[in-house]
Amino acid sequence: MGFGGENLVIGHRGAAGLAPENTLDGFRRAAALGVDAVELDVHCLEGKLVVIHDGVLDRTTSGRGPLKKHSLASLRRLDAGGGQRVPLLEEVLAALPVSVGVNIELKASGTAELAVPLAEDELALGRDVLISSFDHEELGHAAVLGRPDSALRIAPLFGCWPRQGWRVARDLRAWSVNLSLEAASKRLIGEAGERGFRTLVYTVNDRPTADRLIGWGATGVFTDFPDRLIDV
Ligand code: G3P
Ligand code: CA
Repeated sequence: MGFGGENLVIGHRGAAGLAPENTLDGFRRAAALGVDAVELDVHCLEGKLVVIHDGVLDRTTSGRGPLKKHSLASLRRLDAGGGQRVPLLEEVLAALPVSVGVNIELKASGTAELAVPLAEDELALGRDVLISSFDHEELGHAAVLGRPDSALRIAPLFGCWPRQGWRVARDLRAWSVNLSLEAASKRLIGEAGERGFRTLVYTVNDRPTADRLIGWGATGVFTDFPDRLIDV
């Protein structure tokens, strides 16, 4: 398990199709299904990393308005689905066996400096950790904050492939390039392999699509429904 193998199945926001996204129930559900890793999204609030996708609370919680207008205490009183709370990153890590890899997606500036020390502690325990972001500047902070001999994996996210994509990946010393399903062509996945980068593709919720991507050489997929893909 973790990111070291092939044909990786990564639980997207836990198991977002099976349980409220980015909640402890969802992460435990994904782990119980046997995923290689889970993916989660982090913002920072009062010096803590909170696991939530949006910077606005309305879609996934009983709260309203921007996350940043809330105190940590008031955020933690909200319902994030099925009576679940918005977890801290450290609570998710504590809830998962170390055999389950964790992909921490940085959703806001200031998250890298909080995420990297936690990631390094997890690596020391034997957990595989990947840090990713669409914000390549924030991701660059994570890349340099790791220990010199760190096993921390770095992955820029791309919704569409930009002209400078390979330079971004190279400058970050990326382990993988993480691509949207729309961007993930056979040609791009093949070129990534030739350049020494793995490819992880989001969000893949059906078996034929996962099989096609893996056939093109993708290393793995993010899915809301790990139960559909677990033996891909
Ligand atoms: O990391 C893959 C995927 O989670 C990126 O998109 O919007 O689901 O965070 P999003
Ligand atoms: Ca994400």
